[in-house]
Parts: sequence; structure tokens; C-alpha cells
Amino acid sequence: MAVRLQRPHAAVVFGFLLCCMSRVLPTPDPRRREALIQQEVSMQTGGQMTLSDAEKRLDARLFKMKQEEEQKADFPPALHFFKSRDIIKTSPIFSLLQKMPKGGALHVHDFSMVDVQWLVKNVTYRPHCYMCFTDNLSIRFIFMSQWPKPLPHCSPWNLLENLRAKVTNITDLDNSIMANLTLFTDDPEAAYPSQYVVWDRFEQKFQALWGLVTYAPVFRDYYYEGLRQFYMDNVMYLELRALLPELYELDGSTHDSTWTLKTYQDVTRQFTENYPDFYGARIIFTVHRGVNASVMTDVVEKAMKLQRDFPDIMAGFDLVGHEDKGRPLWYFRDALSLPAEKGVTLPFFFHAGETDLEGTDVDQNLLDALLFNASRIGHGFALLRHPVAKDLSRKREVAVEVCPISNQVMKLVKDMRNHPAAALLAENHPVVISSDDPAMFGSCGLSYDFYEAFVGFGGLRSHIGSLKQLVINSIKYSSLTNAQQEKALALWQNSWNKFVSENAF
Ligand SMILES: *[C@@H]1O[C@H](CO)[C@@H](O)[C@H](O)[C@H]1NC(C)=O
Ligand SMILES: *[C@@H]1O[C@H](CO)[C@@H](O)[C@H](O)[C@H]1NC(C)=O
Ligand SMILES: *[C@@H]1O[C@H](CO)[C@@H](O)[C@H](O)[C@H]1NC(C)=O
Ligand SMILES: *[C@@H]1O[C@H](CO)[C@@H](O)[C@H](O)[C@H]1NC(C)=O
Ligand SMILES: *[C@@H]1O[C@H](CO)[C@@H](O)[C@H](O)[C@H]1NC(C)=O
Ligand SMILES: *[C@@H]1O[C@H](CO)[C@@H](O)[C@H](O)[C@H]1NC(C)=O
Ligand SMILES: [Zn+2]
Repeated sequence: MAVRLQRPHAAVVFGFLLCCMSRVLPTPDPRRREALIQQEVSMQTGGQMTLSDAEKRLDARLFKMKQEEEQKADFPPALHFFKSRDIIKTSPIFSLLQKMPKGGALHVHDFSMVDVQWLVKNVTYRPHCYMCFTDNLSIRFIFMSQWPKPLPHCSPWNLLENLRAKVTNITDLDNSIMANLTLFTDDPEAAYPSQYVVWDRFEQKFQALWGLVTYAPVFRDYYYEGLRQFYMDNVMYLELRALLPELYELDGSTHDSTWTLKTYQDVTRQFTENYPDFYGARIIFTVHRGVNASVMTDVVEKAMKLQRDFPDIMAGFDLVGHEDKGRPLWYFRDALSLPAEKGVTLPFFFHAGETDLEGTDVDQNLLDALLFNASRIGHGFALLRHPVAKDLSRKREVAVEVCPISNQVMKLVKDMRNHPAAALLAENHPVVISSDDPAMFGSCGLSYDFYEAFVGFGGLRSHIGSLKQLVINSIKYSSLTNAQQEKALALWQNSWNKFVSENAF
């Protein structure tokens, strides 16, 4: 008692509380404590997964690697991806994740599949490639058999072959072209001070690559190369958000969206013939959310027609573009109700909740996506702030496509440990990991996003079972039929067993 009285006031109160509480409540029972810890651990994604001995050995390796990773001065998930990419590249966890069979990539956009190095070194070196410089320091491209007519707000066209012959340093020119085609930069905070700036740059870069990738012969090669890059990253299946633009030929003639969709189908077939352990790809037709209601009605009708005519390759429909600036889903309710009204199947895979504008019309997109019976939700970054939507998504198993690097680059989150999906994974919410626009972010395939999710969201708690569950989710929540899913799972299981046995020691 005397000792306690000599303490400063706050401590006296604290000491009193401790002393008196311990009289009322005994020390918590360590067995009960352990049971609660285990309960939480088992609630997470993959927490119920039964692991083989080899998987347990691999997990022990991963655990040790993670502990070492967390000691690093520059813990990669705490940094902006543009600063952490080179550190991640050297991580032994990353190299394991690259080798890991990752199942499907379910949220990837058509013109950001292939790293820009390939676009510059391969595509811009092809004959008949012209480039002009816009008033606001961007560039545009076109392939044409004759000298093309000038574009408004752009310099006269330069044949790249001639330009390269004239400049003193071709490497510098190629690097500046590359910088126009990706957001990747050394100082992202300075280059992109706000969400609006980064979205604006994103769309500008998209414009810059448009003329390259919509040239029909390049389009085919681009898509093939995209499949190859995902395949090399041990991804076996893809669901691609695709605008299905008109494609053009050297003489200026064009092909319509149906032709574009057929091209996707042909190239996918060709690719799976060449790589039989690649399962395939399906297309989610997308339109920019900046369009008005009457355009949307036409587009939805077109989507229904494509879905009917190409049921194998078409997976469904979605809207793209900056959610905050675009129109909310509810604005398009008449157009989006057409399939249900007509009794036509058109699965929806809406981007929703890729926002932190709480309480606005746009912020209702999550709930509206669910009301329109979406099959999956793109991003769902705002889901934690919508308990009703979250509950519906869980009950109906409407999986959330989490794209960690995208959310960081587009300035929704700084430190991956604070990403809301960390909470979703802690309770095994239906989630898949994807990469959105890897080329735009200087990333490729899926491994970097898996790294951020595994090391950043999960910390030391997530384990090999979590990874396995995420991969299985990518097949389970895909648009494939049950029979196709079984086939894809069997194909994946083979590669998984091989991966585990080669890396468990
Ligand atoms: C460009 O890519 C195509 C198709 O992938 C390939 O056939 C061609 O050899 C490549 N050309 C160059 C210059 O790399
Ligand atoms: C740059 O110029 C192009 C072509 O005129 C225009 O479409 C685009 O909106 C402009 N971007 C900015 C950021 O001013
Ligand atoms: C061209 O520029 C790059 C980087 O700016 C430099 O490394 C290279 O040495 C230059 N090449 C020539 C031929 O000057
Ligand atoms: C785009 O390319 C032009 C011309 O090469 C260059 O002046 C400009 O700095 C580049 N823009 C970016 C954002 O890298
Ligand atoms: C909708 O947009 C299209 C294309 O931009 C335009 O032609 C049409 O007039 C617009 N309709 C309405 C009602 O604003
Ligand atoms: C969503 O599904 C419910 C229940 O199956 C159905 O009644 C409703 O018409 C669907 N709504 C839309 C817009 O597809
Ligand atoms: Zn997206």
C-alpha cells in the first residue's frame, strides 16, 4: 500500500484498477486465449485448408522468409510500388510466388496486358509506323500505307524510321515513348499529386497507345504476347475486360467489334493449341462509363447479341473508367435492366466501390451492382464501409476482385498493410487477387499483386493455405461452367503438386 501511494497519480489509479480488477477477474485462461487465437486463424482465407506434409514444409520456408522480409529497412508493402518493385524482384518470396501456379487472372484490361518495352521495341519498329507530338506533350501513333492526314492538336506525322535516323540518341527517344505509355516513374508523389491527376494521366497514356494496339496485325500479336506473359507468370486462365474497338488496316479500312471478338477467339485457340497447359480466356465486354443513357442502351443490346452469338468466349459485361467522374450505375438502370426484362442472359462484372467518396451517388455502386445481380465485383475497395453490401456479397458469393497495386497507384491506399482487403481476407470473404492494368503500373502478370496480398495484407498470419485458397477462388469464382471448372482445377492441381514437391525442403 505504501509503495503504491508513492507513485504518481495516474499510476496510482492504474495500479488500483489492476489490483482490484484482478480480484474480481482472474487472469484470462491461457487455454481459452489459445482457442480464440486459433479461431481467428481458422477464420481467414484458407484457414480451414488441410495441408499435405509437403505443403507444410513449404509453408515453414515461407514463414521464415516472411520473418526476414519484415526485418528489412524498406518493407516493400509499406512503399509505393514504383519504389518497391526492384526490391520485390530480389525477394525470395516473390520468386516462389512467380513459380506458383496462380490459376486465373479475373480482372485485367485489354490494352494493359503487355509490358511497354515490347510495344516500343517490337511494335514501333514495324514498317509504316507514324508518330506525332500533341500540344500537351503526349504522342499519338498510326500505321498507314500512305502519309496520314494530320490530327488536330498534333504535330505533323513523323515516320518513326525517319525520326530514328535523325535523332542523336535512339535510346532516349525510345525511353520517352515508353514513358508516354506507362504511369511508372521514379517519383510518383510528385508526378501524381491527386487521384484526379493520376486518372487524367492514365487516360492520356491510354490515348497514346490506342493507335498502336488497334492496328489489326498488332492487335493479334499484342493479345498473343499478353497471353504469353501471363502464362510465363504461371497464370492458366484469363478473363479480360475488353472494349472491343474497331480495328484498322494499313489502307485505313476497319473491322467491327464482332470481328475483334472473333479475333480474340482465334488467337486464344491458337495459344491454347501451342500451350496445352493453358486453359483459355474469356472476354468481358466493357464500355466507358462516361457515355450517356441512350448510348448505354445500344451497347447493352450489342452485348446481349454478342453473348448470344459467342457464348463460349463472351463472359459478360462491365463499365470502365474513373468511377468518381463517371455516371453511377443507377443512372444506367434502364439499360442495365434490359437483359432481365427480355429474359436474356448477360452476366455483369461491375467495377464498383473503387472510390473513397463516401456517401455520394457513386458510392452506391456497390449496392447497385449487387441489386443488378453482378457475378463479381471489380475492386470493391469501399466494401467495408457498406455492411449490407458486404453481407450480400458474402451470402451470394459475389467475389470481390482485389487489385492491390492498382489501388495504390490510383491513390486509394498508401501502405498495403492498410488495404481494406486485409480485413476481407481475415474473415475469408470471397476474394480473388488480380492485376487490373499491369503494364500501366510497370508490373506484369499476377505475381507482384500476389506478393502485396500475401506479404502486405496477410502479414505473418497468412500461409500457404491462404495462397492455395486464393488460387482455387480464381477458378471457383470464374465465369466457367461447373464442368469447365473441374477440368481447370484438375489441370491446376497437377501443376500445384509439382510446384509444392519441387519447393518443399
Ligand atoms: C515482334 O513480335 C512478333 C510477334 O510476336 C515476332 O514475330 C517478331 O519477330 C517480333 N519482332 C521484333 C523486331 O522483335
Ligand atoms: C491533351 O490533348 C489531347 C488532344 O487534343 C486531348 O484529347 C487531351 O484531353 C489533352 N489532355 C490534357 C491533360 O490536357
Ligand atoms: C543515349 O542515352 C543513354 C541514356 O540517356 C545513354 O546511356 C547512352 O550512352 C546514350 N547513347 C549514345 C550513343 O549517346
Ligand atoms: C512523351 O514523349 C514526348 C516526345 O518524345 C516527350 O517530350 C515527353 O516528355 C513524353 N512524355 C512523358 C510523360 O514521358
Ligand atoms: C448521347 O451521346 C451520343 C454520342 O456522344 C450523342 O450522339 C447523343 O446525342 C447523346 N444523346 C443524348 C440524349 O444526349
Ligand atoms: C436479379 O435476380 C433476382 C432474383 O433471381 C430477379 O428477380 C431480378 O429480376 C434480377 N434483376 C436483374 C436486374 O437482373
Ligand atoms: Zn479495372
